[in-house]
Amino acid sequence: MKQKKYWGILLLSGCLTLSMATLAWTEDGEGEGHERHERGFLHQAADIGPITNKAYKTECSACHFAYPAGFLPERSWVKIMNNLDDHFGENAELNDKTRLVITDYLRTHAADRLPNRFSRSMLRSVDAGATPLRISETSYFRHKHREIPARMVTGNPKVGSFSNCLSCHSGADNGSFDEHSVTIPGFRQWED
Ligand code: HEC
Ligand code: HEC
Repeated sequence: MKQKKYWGILLLSGCLTLSMATLAWTEDGEGEGHERHERGFLHQAADIGPITNKAYKTECSACHFAYPAGFLPERSWVKIMNNLDDHFGENAELNDKTRLVITDYLRTHAADRLPNRFSRSMLRSVDAGATPLRISETSYFRHKHREIPARMVTGNPKVGSFSNCLSCHSGADNGSFDEHSVTIPGFRQWED
């Protein structure tokens, strides 16, 4: 019995140390010098994660990839969900019940609710008074994609626009946006 307890405590303190380490390096800035720390085991634990809500996945992937909630602050999702009749030039209206279920999911999984390195960086890049409606127009997004020329995006029929995350991030459906598993269709493996 005693033996078991000892191992339990050891395991618990191991987990605590690990999660503290995760917190410590996610506080780091986005500077290139820190990129090295973002790889490996700890990195996995800090990914944005897959979409876990069926209604969201079904309804909001009819026209495009269902964007992970962790890429926008809660107030952005609320604004998007309150204006579905005029959604980027389309009508994406839902019945009240489905709309509420999806809004609730997006709010509870928004960038300000989930501590992972992407969401933290995203939040830092959005002004407190701003409510962006597009992930692709935030400074964090622009910063991460600044080296990609237009011919690979808007000039690329297999991509079309930056809103088409899945075309380049093949793991995006599983919540994986690792810059080391990106391929731009029609071009060689992306290298930094
Ligand atoms: C009827 C089609 C349609 C449906 C259904 C739809 N959308 Fe969209 N959505 C669009 C279009 C069109 C754009 C703009 C895409 C572009 O510029 O390439 C867009 C863009 C977005 C963006 C911004 C993407 C970026 O550039 O960062 C978000 C966020 C978004 N939609 C959320 C949702 C959510 C949440 C739902 C479900 C409630 C939803 N959409 C359902 C058509 C749709
Ligand atoms: C044209 C292809 C393309 C599209 C479309 C695209 N990305 Fe990217 N993305 C990249 C590339 C390439 C990188 C790596 C950039 C670098 O390392 O210089 C990247 C990097 C990222 C990163 C940083 C990854 C890391 O490990 O730090 C995130 C997060 C990301 N993209 C999210 C998105 C989201 C969300 C969308 C859709 C709204 C999207 N991307 C659309 C090509 C794309």
